[in-house]
Amino acid sequence: MVAIGIVVAILVTLVAVLIPWLPTSASEEMDRIEFVYWFATVICIAVFALVMAVLVYSVMAFRSPPEDESDGPPIHGNTGLEIAWTVAPAILVIAIGVLSAFVLSKNGEAGPNPLNVKVFAQQFAWRFVYPDDGGIKSGQLVLPVNRSAKFEMESADVIHSFWIPDMGQKQDLVPGIKTTIIVTPNRTGVFSLICTELCGVGHATMRAAVRVVSQEEFATWVKERSEGGGGNPDAAAALFDSAGCGGCHAFEPAGSTGEIGPNLDNLVSAAQKAGQDPADYVREAIVDPGKVVAPGYQDGVMPPSYGETLSAAEIDSLVAFLTGAK
Ligand code: CUA
Repeated sequence: MVAIGIVVAILVTLVAVLIPWLPTSASEEMDRIEFVYWFATVICIAVFALVMAVLVYSVMAFRSPPEDESDGPPIHGNTGLEIAWTVAPAILVIAIGVLSAFVLSKNGEAGPNPLNVKVFAQQFAWRFVYPDDGGIKSGQLVLPVNRSAKFEMESADVIHSFWIPDMGQKQDLVPGIKTTIIVTPNRTGVFSLICTELCGVGHATMRAAVRVVSQEEFATWVKERSEGGGGNPDAAAALFDSAGCGGCHAFEPAGSTGEIGPNLDNLVSAAQKAGQDPADYVREAIVDPGKVVAPGYQDGVMPPSYGETLSAAEIDSLVAFLTGAK
């Protein structure tokens, strides 16, 4: 019986360890969540191996011969056994519960100096604003490593959900209320923020890049983004990025490679083909994206709200950028 238990335990342990069930952790919160997973998994393996050992052994050792049709011996019960199999699981489940509560509370602590980031979600794009750093805006989530980020989140339309799989934490964005979540990235790299609440036809495309950089690189990025005099190389390119355009569209001058919406490199010739002034053509496509939908692309994926969320000057600047006008 012990041998069966050991073999089963080894087999399930291999299944647990060899298959990469979870992404490699990239945050302190995810490290803690992984610890809970492994804690529960070890308990599960032990219980499963014990049950399987008794079950397989009983089936083999107490099998009745083919001709035996007599009744089994009348057994009323076993008080000691029943107490054991009630108390042991109760202790294990309470242990998992206490550990989970501890991790949940720890994952809700931002520490003394969190980076505040406002997250705005709309069908089907993410935008980020950094109130501590001059209110700079970005369509890409840039975070310094080893510093807690506190996200205050709002949705403009329906329920969305903020989730960076490598960082574990997950939180809904609900219209009308502000929700918060803490993430403390602990390694640099590029990750993916995905919307994990079915929010409409473009739900699957509602993603944003998450770039975790060193503290120095983050300071440089903030400086580049916020500097008006001397440093701002291309405000329109920054706007293209912060409005989330690059998430869906490839456009060489902005260095974006999105494939969800049409490529924007040849807008001028497309406008000429349609017999329209390029500036009018592009403006219409930004403000009223449903009016003309490029063949092969789906209507309703691009947010129809850019006419309201961008200022007239911002739209002018985007139109000029996209048509190559100076
Ligand atoms: Cu937003 Cu799904």
